[in-house]
Amino acid sequence: MSDHDLQQKIHDAIANPKNIGEMTDADSVGTVGSPDCGDMLRMWVKFKDEDGRRVIDRATFQTFGCETAIAVASVATELVAGKTVEEALSMSGADLSAPLGALPPMKIHCAQLVEGALRSALTGVPSPMAAPLPPQTATLIESFTARPENERTVKVVLKPKAS
Ligand code: FES
Repeated sequence: MSDHDLQQKIHDAIANPKNIGEMTDADSVGTVGSPDCGDMLRMWVKFKDEDGRRVIDRATFQTFGCETAIAVASVATELVAGKTVEEALSMSGADLSAPLGALPPMKIHCAQLVEGALRSALTGVPSPMAAPLPPQTATLIESFTARPENERTVKVVLKPKAS
């Protein structure tokens, strides 16, 4: 697949991202930060019983990450629906980003960030390729702004509330 095709698929995914946002009734949540770029991603997972198996009902995410991370998280949350924990854990970053096609080497860590957040949510154990970012109870913006400024790659500006 050409770079242009990949860019188009990423563009399409972020133009209409799926499963974005906090899940208030989630069974588990995982938050990770990339040691490569400082981006962050949080994933929520809800389970259900289906034919006697406990499977992922749905997964959602929030991120302070690049377009590739958003695109991968979007397709990954769709891919893991209906899978057991074991099946979802068997998926690598490459599996989770497969609908987008092969990522260039410099973007592989973006898919690993998604894999790390999913693993963290499914097991409660941080992924070896992405650092955990406690506390899990804080909002993603609180976790992000609690980090030293020199570890951040994104500047967040909060808009004042409309009166
Ligand atoms: Fe860091 Fe994509 S550049 S997650």
